[in-house]
Amino acid sequence: MIRLENVVKHYRTTEAVNGVTLTINKGEIYGIIGYSGAGKSTLIRMINLLEKPTSGKLYVNEIDLLGLSPKELRLQRRKIGMIFQHFNLLSNKTVFDNVAFPLKIAKVKKDIIHNRVTELLNLVGVSSKANHYPSELSGGEKQRVGIARALANNPEVLLCDEVTSALDPETTKQILNLLKTINEKFGITIVLISHEMAVVKEICHRVAVMEKGKIIEEGLVISLFTSPQTKTAQNFVKQITDLNGDVLEDEKLKVKYPEGILVKLQYINDNVEKPLISSLVKMFDIDVNILQGKIIPTSNGSYGLLYVQLTGNDLSQAIKHLEKQGIEVKRID
Ligand SMILES: Nc1ncnc2c1ncn2[C@@H]1O[C@H](COP(=O)(O)OP(=O)(O)OP(=O)(O)O)[C@@H](O)[C@H]1O
Ligand SMILES: [Mg+2]
Repeated sequence: MIRLENVVKHYRTTEAVNGVTLTINKGEIYGIIGYSGAGKSTLIRMINLLEKPTSGKLYVNEIDLLGLSPKELRLQRRKIGMIFQHFNLLSNKTVFDNVAFPLKIAKVKKDIIHNRVTELLNLVGVSSKANHYPSELSGGEKQRVGIARALANNPEVLLCDEVTSALDPETTKQILNLLKTINEKFGITIVLISHEMAVVKEICHRVAVMEKGKIIEEGLVISLFTSPQTKTAQNFVKQITDLNGDVLEDEKLKVKYPEGILVKLQYINDNVEKPLISSLVKMFDIDVNILQGKIIPTSNGSYGLLYVQLTGNDLSQAIKHLEKQGIEVKRID
């Protein structure tokens, strides 16, 4: 659906994007995560040629966007919607007129515009605000209008650049759910940029980690949790897996629970639901003390993280049993 081949963007003094090769499949929600300055916005803005690459190739639906005439490009761009962190609504136009705007530019007939805008405002849940101005809306409502406007021309791709960064956690969830619904209902491919793992985890199928203009790691979201390869990926995963609150770090756990062995268990999918601990106690001569843990749902399955203290006689057999079930067991020594 979207294919970047060795795409580079150099500004006068900065190498913002430094050779990115990437394929995003049709119908996928693809996340790009990275710290500030990594080049995420530059990269996503090249997908609709808001920024022109310095070099490299760019295909959307197998069409080489860099080979198009200005007019052809204008038509292709209608198939790519975009939403932004600060919504970018036209402040002197009503909600209705903001959503109607791209349709007017596309010279759609007035009565069709009316129906389409009404339908879109319904879809995103802001019908009652149709005659209000952006300044009269909450952040969440503004982003809903932004989404409606981006969908006006029935795009196949929706580009999202930090679209929840200005919103509170609850509103963020609602907007992400709306994006998920749009993806599932209309099969629209979504590219979503964020510096928060919580956002990526919520709706993305796959994710790329970006640093210094390059993709340094890529894969299923669940794989990032179970085996992050780079330090940066590990730090992003930590944003979620860190057990905040009344929890102890490895060293402190060891001091507090000196008996037996302490292990960190990591597992995915159905293993999370399995009554793993109770079966362990029944099968082996051991005791299991659950110390702390977390289960993190992602689009590709759940990721479980559990710290337990094992005491008794069959410790090594019990650990072998866990490993046989696909659970990653790490001793804390
Ligand atoms: N128009 C521009 N002219 C010159 N340099 C730019 C321009 N746009 C971005 N840059 C530089 O390119 C680099 C990448 O910027 P970019 O905005 O793509 O990062 P980002 O990952 O989106 O960061 P953030 O999370 O803060 O939004 C930065 O060093 C930035 O200063
Ligand atoms: Mg940015």
